Amino acid sequence: MNAEETTRTFLGFFEERGHQVIEGSSLVPPGDGPVLFTAAGMHPLTPYLDGGPPHPQGRRLTGLQRCLRTTDLDEVGDERHLTVFQMLGSWSLGDYDGPQSLRWGFELITKILGNERVRLHATVFGGDDQVGPDLASQRTWDELGVPVEFLTDDNWWSNGPTGPCGPDSELFVWTGDGPPQGSPGTDERWMELWNHVTMRFRRPGDGRLEPLSQPNVDTGMGLERLLMVTQGVPSVFQTDVFQPWMSVLPGLWGPGQKELRLIADHLRASIVIIGDGVRPSNTGRGYVLRRLLRRVLTVLWRTDNSKSLGDLPVTLIEHTLARFGQHTDPELIREILKDEERRFAVLMTRGRKVLGRFGPGWQPTPEELSYLHQTHGLPPDLVTDLLTEEGETSESVVGQ
Ligand code: SER
Repeated sequence: MNAEETTRTFLGFFEERGHQVIEGSSLVPPGDGPVLFTAAGMHPLTPYLDGGPPHPQGRRLTGLQRCLRTTDLDEVGDERHLTVFQMLGSWSLGDYDGPQSLRWGFELITKILGNERVRLHATVFGGDDQVGPDLASQRTWDELGVPVEFLTDDNWWSNGPTGPCGPDSELFVWTGDGPPQGSPGTDERWMELWNHVTMRFRRPGDGRLEPLSQPNVDTGMGLERLLMVTQGVPSVFQTDVFQPWMSVLPGLWGPGQKELRLIADHLRASIVIIGDGVRPSNTGRGYVLRRLLRRVLTVLWRTDNSKSLGDLPVTLIEHTLARFGQHTDPELIREILKDEERRFAVLMTRGRKVLGRFGPGWQPTPEELSYLHQTHGLPPDLVTDLLTEEGETSESVVGQ
């Protein structure tokens, strides 16, 4: 099943069980909320979780939401982490309970994957000094014949230090060669697939937990990870959603596998962010976008600084916009990428010249970093990049 069919199967399954499909929202949350980007399918539903107005589409919802997570940035390039991804979700707004959600989840997963019980493992909340262990979820997994492990920190989901939260139960699938070994807590080859949060608390910010006015269920499953399993490929980059990227980029820029993945991930993320109206800048969302593009350019130019984002085929931009249901002009996106590339090239040239005055092995103090930023417009992270680049060059000279 390709991405389209898998999404239809997921949404159709929940529609048959009384859920309404909600439209995916922008990566940019409305208003001045505390989060920069939508990072979970439940973000747009926050007003309906706690005694707000009833959701216009009812108490049972399902949908596909684009999400961005900067917390996983250092892991991008491995088999399963992405900066921007699509999350399939189902929600009970004060309607059915957590065990019902797990039973449906299991039914759908076995429908999609075939009878793969042997490759599944669940985890449930083990309890802490405020909330007891999640025995209802544990019993449900036992009934379904799925092995289950109690974990504590990993099985508590929250949006941040304040706001709605609750214990979660996660479903993992075995991605290793040969028969499954260990458990999600002991073996990383268990990959988290689907998270079911029993969202029934709120943190006001003073360490206490208060019950929400209604118990909700919030589930989320990364579409790209699901495709990795259904399409039987060892990484998200080999699924159909990345196929055009991974077939074009090696011939175009040809760096190693890990670099290719990072470039594909960051460019795809940048296109979606721009598609949602963000422009590169030195603060907030615009700065996240700028950092993503600078990372791409740093990797591209490491081997050959004549490589240019201007060579990116417009078909890759179009493919990405179509996947995320966005309607921005692809040529405009390419112009924004090229403009950002020009600015970065100027900054790098200036940076190298300024840093050259300090001599090899120099480590800036916080005051020097601030001086470089204020006087020369060189942000601290760019200085770090340039010093790393200088260190790598001298190491490779020494190694020759
Ligand atoms: N909010 C949970 C998550 O992001 C489940 O959707 O994992």
